[in-house]
Amino acid sequence: MKILIVHGPNLNLLGKREPEIYGTTTLDEINSLLKKEAETLGIEIEFFQSNSEGEIVTKIQGAMGKFDGVVINPGAYTHTSIAIRDAVASTGISTVEVHISNVYKREEFRQKSFISGVAVGVISGFGVDSYLLGLRGLVSYLKN
Ligand code: DQA
Repeated sequence: MKILIVHGPNLNLLGKREPEIYGTTTLDEINSLLKKEAETLGIEIEFFQSNSEGEIVTKIQGAMGKFDGVVINPGAYTHTSIAIRDAVASTGISTVEVHISNVYKREEFRQKSFISGVAVGVISGFGVDSYLLGLRGLVSYLKN
């Protein structure tokens, strides 16, 4: 089984970016934790980060036939991107949406996700663990 992890805009700044909301763990550290988790689960994993909506759409399209599923933190595109939603829907690739913060506890504009309606599930608010829980959930979903 092969899973693609997609990190959206500004997540390259994790560690420095609003640490009171997103913590101090860097993106590289998150990817290392995910790699360890993937080894434990006996699956393959690949990482992609982009600040550009079009690049994320292209990467999801390219995942068709190469990956069994996607774990995505779409960052702010969660709340704006019909294009990323359509990419997930068009490819039909099993996708789990994750957020470090609990978006439902924050500003109203963060409480709308264009991605949730086409995702297998959503995990929000567990810090870095959201990624690990999302990966575990997706693998279990794909196995069953
Ligand atoms: C985020 C939540 C989004 O609202 C925000 O724009 C982000 C990060 C999270 O992981 O909590 O960039 O997706």
